[in-house]
Formats: sequence, C-alpha cells, structure tokens
Amino acid sequence: MLANRTVTLIVTGGIAAYKALELVRLLRQAGARVIPVMTRAAESFVTPLSLAALAEEEVHRDLFDLTREARMGHIALSRAADLVAVVPASADFLAKMAHGLADDLASTMVLATDTPVLVAPAMNVRMWQHPATRRNLARLREDGVHVVPPEEGAMACGETGEGRLAAPEAVLAAIARLLGPKPLAGRHVIVTSGPTREPIDPVRFIANRSSGRQGAAIARALADLGADVTFVTGPAEVPPPAGVRVVPVETAAEMLAAVEEALPADAAVFAAAVADWRVRQAASSKIKKTPDGAPPTLRMIENPDILAAISRHPDMRPPLVVGFAAETDDVLGNARAKRVRKGCDWIVANDVGGTGIMGGAENEVILVTAEGEERWPRMTKEEVARRLAERIVAALERQEGGG
Ligand code: C5P
Repeated sequence: MLANRTVTLIVTGGIAAYKALELVRLLRQAGARVIPVMTRAAESFVTPLSLAALAEEEVHRDLFDLTREARMGHIALSRAADLVAVVPASADFLAKMAHGLADDLASTMVLATDTPVLVAPAMNVRMWQHPATRRNLARLREDGVHVVPPEEGAMACGETGEGRLAAPEAVLAAIARLLGPKPLAGRHVIVTSGPTREPIDPVRFIANRSSGRQGAAIARALADLGADVTFVTGPAEVPPPAGVRVVPVETAAEMLAAVEEALPADAAVFAAAVADWRVRQAASSKIKKTPDGAPPTLRMIENPDILAAISRHPDMRPPLVVGFAAETDDVLGNARAKRVRKGCDWIVANDVGGTGIMGGAENEVILVTAEGEERWPRMTKEEVARRLAERIVAALERQEGGG
C-alpha cells in the first residue's frame, strides 16, 4: 500500500509517544520507509533507540548537529519524504507550528518542508478544548495541514474526554489516503467557492457572508485524490488550498467567464455563494451624498446563474455537475426543486438558518440526487468534502463503466 513511500515521523513529547512506535511498525509493514525525528520532550517518553530499532533508521534529534548537517542539511532532510507526520502532536508543538516558530530540529523541518504535513494531536481534554488550541488548529487547517483528530476516552492523566491520540491504525489510514492511490488522477474538476462582490461604485460593493471554507475543503479533498482542480474563487476568508489552480474573481460575471474558460471538465462543483443580483450600472466614481440628503436608488438586474448555465452547456457540460443549496426553510423541498430547475446532477443542501453554519467549521447536509436523498450527520466541512469527493470518484467510475 505504501511501497516506495517515505514518511518523516516527528514524535513530540507526551504520554502518547509510545503509540508512535506502533505506528512505525504499521508503516513499515505497509512498505513505507520511516525517517524518525524526535523533540527533546519526546525523549522523556520513548527512547531514541526503540524508535531507531523499529524504523531501522537513525533518529534525527539535533538542529545543530554539524556532522549530519554536512551530510544532509535539515532543509534537505525535511523534503526527503513524501509526507511529514507529527504523531503525537502536543499542544505546544501545534502552537509552534501555527505561529511558524522554528527553534529545534522538528519545528524547523515542519517550517522548511514542501511536502504535505499531517498532525495527530494528543493532549489533556482541557488543553484540547482550550480556545488557544482551537485557534491554532483552525490556523493549521487553513495552512493546509491535515489533522487526524483525537478520540474520546480515558486518558493517562486520569481524566476522560476528547484528546486521546487517534489509534495508530486510524493515523495509518489517513496517511494512506494522502499517499495512497489517486483515483482522480487525470481528471479535471472545477470548483467554485467563496462569495462574489458586485460593485456599486469604485469603493462599495454588495457581498455575502460566505467564508469559502466548504469550497476550499472540497477543492482540497479532490486534489488529495489526485484531481487536477481549477479553483475559481471569490474574495474568501480562508486561503485557497495548496496544489490547485487558483483563479481569483470578484463578480458573478467574472466567475462565469472563468468557469467557461476552464471547460472541459470531468466534474464541476459549484460551492460559491453567488450574488443573485448586481447593480445594473455601477457608478464610475464614488457616489456622493446629495445636499437634500436623498439616498441613491440602486437599480438591480439578475446575475447569470453559473450552475444552470454550465448544467445546460450546449457542448461542454461536465458529466457530473454538483450544486449547493443554502436554505433557511423547507431545505429538502427547495433542494429537490433546485436540482431539476438548474439541470444539475446533485444538490448538496444545507440549512443555514441561524445555526452558525454559514462561515462556521461544521456543516449538516442532505445530498439530493436523481435516486433520492441522503441525510449526512453533522460533521466538519472537511469531512463533508471528503465524503463528497469519494462520491464523485464512485460516480465517475460508474460512468466510465458505462453505468
Ligand atoms: O439558487 P441558489 O442561489 O440557491 O443556488 C445555489 C447554487 O447555485 C449554488 O451551487 C451556487 O453556486 C449556484 N449559483 C450559481 N450562480 C448564481 C447563483 C447560484 O452558480 N448566479
């Protein structure tokens, strides 16, 4: 499964460090080469000798080891692998990563690497729940770091709750997803994301609360599976994921043009919150207050519906077109109607009515297809993205098989 793959495994300090030994065994069993790295704190929990013995590699520990630096500098070392995995990742190490600190070999390698990075946090439940840790993790996710969340259960410190390192098998599965087979290799997928901005005059615009989180997660999940992703994004709060072709746009009209330009595609996912209307004629200079205090009247016209236009494209309709529906009432009824009206294959519907979903980290969706609908439990936007990407793989494979 992981033959010819190399994983740099950084072990940081914590009781759970002993589980890293089991992970090394599993990685070796799957055919991977493991380059072990330890922080000073980790050495209080497991010995470098056990790690070296299981990995059958020398353990790297010192940033200023001049002999080693002469043979293979820490920068080269950080890039020698296909993946850098931090298991377990302590609260302290996550904080350092989130802030880009580099004061030892392990943190310097994480900052210097150009390979994907995965972290499996493990810590006391209070530390896990602390706003600082939440913030650091959110930041790391935005930076493109893959997170294998901890489990709930009894912990070594005697408390019970979330914070226990994910099982070595679960970490291995996450690594295998990143380094394993790429079922979307050679497939082109277009993803739209974020809000649009419709100008009123040179300094004012109409926009919406879309953060672009869900669209970015989808683009990333598709890229993880090997897809060649064109990511057409309005001005979003979250940065675009690494490894995709980014086409930044502002208005709905620009978004439509960018999507048309990106065709043909094997699939298209329209996660953007496109403004339905724009100001008919944006003013060319800043609109001034008038002496009589009368407010200006904005004349609106409808924007092009990108999803509908691409779903009905005369000659380049992607074989799979997925739309989103953010609803506040009768989510399912509206989503079903929208699927038919817009001519797309699937609608991912969510209830955005006052639940903090728009702009939040989690989503609760219903997947509406021609076959019926599936209600997915509430989960992170990353999980929604992964599930959707897997469904896209299955659908494209079915089409390939002529089904
Ligand atoms: O009609 P409504 O805006 O609810 O439809 C949402 C879906 O349609 C989303 O997938 C959105 O990206 C897409 N859409 C679009 N162009 C528009 C309006 C919505 O592509 N002008």
